[in-house]
Amino acid sequence: MESGRTVGHVSDLLVVADQAALAQEAAKRVVAIAEEAVARCGRFTVALAGGSTPKRLYSLLAAEPYCTRLPWRETHLFWGDERAVPPEHPDSNFGMARATLLSRVPIPANQVHRMQAERADLDAAASEYEAEIARTFAAQPPGEPPMFDLILLGLGPDGHTASLFPYTRALRETKRWVAHNYIPKLKANRLTLTTPILNRTATMLFLVSGGEKAAVLQAVLEGPPDPERLPAQLIRPVACRLVWLVDQAAASRLGEKVP
Ligand code: 6PG
Repeated sequence: MESGRTVGHVSDLLVVADQAALAQEAAKRVVAIAEEAVARCGRFTVALAGGSTPKRLYSLLAAEPYCTRLPWRETHLFWGDERAVPPEHPDSNFGMARATLLSRVPIPANQVHRMQAERADLDAAASEYEAEIARTFAAQPPGEPPMFDLILLGLGPDGHTASLFPYTRALRETKRWVAHNYIPKLKANRLTLTTPILNRTATMLFLVSGGEKAAVLQAVLEGPPDPERLPAQLIRPVACRLVWLVDQAAASRLGEKVP
């Protein structure tokens, strides 16, 4: 079952049956955006989400029919955020993408732009990732951020997205494109894209699955604005498509009275 509707400032909300349907719909959209970007400007730039929801999507993109259709030689992969661990660590977002996708597709190694979040100096790592974005897009930080063709995001049960966690410093970054963010409740450091660059993307695709996300999805989409508590509410791309692709379990509280 699919239903699409415009909800408040959200440009698109698409509800699909389950995780498998969500991954299939996301794969179709990724390929369509990639094909259009390459036809328009000769390359496709995308920032991947971490966490567990995108795993199915990445595995689909590494297999037929999607793998052949994706223009890997013209694709540049970035990450929306990364944990402060080496790429071999089980928590690494890059490691997850390497296992499910990168190790199985013919993308040129120099077009895979990994966040080096294992480094001791994460402020330097953030600056260098910003410089890598700038080189790829021939842009100049801290000027106007470049426009990704697509950014994939997830939604945490606490309303975080990328590594923009509630009440953390990176929420208030208005200039830098990449930030080192310390998450007190996790006692963990992260690297994350910030709202200036996130909100510049041409298409933002949120992937949200599971009943444990129902309450937070309702709060983010239908509750009062409270972006410090619900950082996903900061994602309001200025001139593009914002698509929430959610499964029925995650959407089960939408339209109910917000507590
Ligand atoms: C991360 C992600 C994070 C993730 C959400 C949802 O590094 O953890 O970037 O923002 O998208 O926490 O994670 P799940 O898909 O595992 O629910």
